[in-house]
Amino acid sequence: MSELDRFAAVARDVIDAAGRELREAIGAQKRIAYKSAIDLVTDTDHAVEALIVERLGRAFPDHVIVGEEGSAGGRPLRPAADQYAWYVDPLDGTTNFAHCHPQFSVSIGLARGAELLLGMVLDPLRRELFAALRGRGATLNGEPIHVSAVQELGQALLATGLPYDRRQQIDFYFAFIKEAVLAAQGIRRAGSAALDLCYLACGRFDAYWEWKLGPWDCAAGVLIVREAGGRVSDLAGAPFDLYGDQILASNGLLHAPMIDLFAPLR
Ligand code: IPD
Ligand code: CA
Ligand code: CA
Repeated sequence: MSELDRFAAVARDVIDAAGRELREAIGAQKRIAYKSAIDLVTDTDHAVEALIVERLGRAFPDHVIVGEEGSAGGRPLRPAADQYAWYVDPLDGTTNFAHCHPQFSVSIGLARGAELLLGMVLDPLRRELFAALRGRGATLNGEPIHVSAVQELGQALLATGLPYDRRQQIDFYFAFIKEAVLAAQGIRRAGSAALDLCYLACGRFDAYWEWKLGPWDCAAGVLIVREAGGRVSDLAGAPFDLYGDQILASNGLLHAPMIDLFAPLR
């Protein structure tokens, strides 16, 4: 068994355990706290992160673990270039979860320095596990997945999200949404960035953009998109940075049209 296969076996056990905990918690009474006026955190975010961190920490004591709820509110520091780092979002789509809306996920990614090696995103209610290992393609419940072949924005279903500073930046974010609504066949704001990326990877969406995601939101999903044949960059087409503040992901065919669409707004 290669080192990467061993990492994947542990990650699979851990994400399955996290999924079981999320399924049990969705119907139970939730304790909600506020990181800011619209940024919620539930007791389940903390409990599932503790479970994941404990298990990954036991399996890989010399790896760094960057979990959303352990990040003390700030942006985490970049690990060293040869350091293995796990990026953990225990509950991506907390607002949906708090409202019993079923679109949420748990996301676990592994990188060595800036090189993404492994990504797993589980939708615990639909029991959909999206996974990718570097160089080995992407799968949904074990079956290979690929991005769509849509070439025209007019035939595209686009996805985006709205960062938690939206009340301060609403005109800026809405300018991009306006252009997308006018150009595309449809646009969705589903509420889990990790699932948005996985839906792009399997052809349910054709392109996706957002600002101010944390590395825990997108480490797994970015690798899954790339391994499914898609492209990921910043909004101007420059290389994607896990610690940067913007992301544009597409089926590849729509990358240039999306960059052009947004160029006047950047
Ligand atoms: C959020 C979701 C949402 C995105 C936000 C994220 P959280 O993550 O992924 O879709 O628009 O930017 O912060 O807070 O539910 O883990
Ligand atoms: Ca998140
Ligand atoms: Ca989260």
